[in-house]
Amino acid sequence: MTQNENRTGRNSGPESKWTIRTADEADLDAVSDLEAECFPAAEAATRESFAQRIRYYGDCFLLLFEDGKLISFVDGMITDEKDLRDEMYEKADMHDPNGKWQMIFGVNTRPSHQRCGYAGILIRKMIEKAKEEGRLGVVLTCKDKLVHYYASFGFQNEGVSEESTHGGVVWNQMRITF
Ligand SMILES: CC(C)(COP(=O)(O)OP(=O)(O)OC[C@H]1O[C@@H](n2cnc3c(N)ncnc32)[C@H](O)[C@@H]1OP(=O)(O)O)[C@@H](O)C(=O)NCCC(=O)NCCS
Repeated sequence: MTQNENRTGRNSGPESKWTIRTADEADLDAVSDLEAECFPAAEAATRESFAQRIRYYGDCFLLLFEDGKLISFVDGMITDEKDLRDEMYEKADMHDPNGKWQMIFGVNTRPSHQRCGYAGILIRKMIEKAKEEGRLGVVLTCKDKLVHYYASFGFQNEGVSEESTHGGVVWNQMRITF
């Protein structure tokens, strides 16, 4: 994948351009702020957690900017483990760049920009990236209300996760196998 990619946004005026790129330390504030805007405190990853994630796998973040502002992002480590476990969220050093599975830990779009297709662009891009890198597939967990959404990209629901219970929520594990 190229580091920077410019395209015209779907719902924006023809002059509006968006950019997708991976993350580095300078993105920490923007990423943490957007997470806090999108998730309740019990489920939101902290700034410290993002600092570690970006340090270990900033290249596994995809950030979408419009006019220089962060609109949406997706992130997750790579691992040989088949199932997503809560421990992975906090232990960024579990990232294995040579691993088989691309995990997706978070998908966030600024509330003012939701339902315009931004997360969809990033999810498809993450799938494409994982394919290009020779992974076996992509794994995520989500609440019941988003199962149909991820299914629309080809993710299959494997049922309620026994490995992930963070925030006291019931999470479904979903997977695309290439
Ligand atoms: C879930 C979330 C990431 C989706 O982001 P988004 O950028 O709004 O996603 P999209 O625009 O790709 O799709 C959202 C919906 O808008 C629809 N949509 C996409 N483009 C559209 C368009 N041009 N016009 C109208 N609707 C559109 C999609 O079909 C989807 O509809 P559905 O829910 O009926 O399937 C966002 O709502 C969010 O950040 N929520 C809070 C955090 C969260 O729960 N994250 C998921 C963790 S598992």
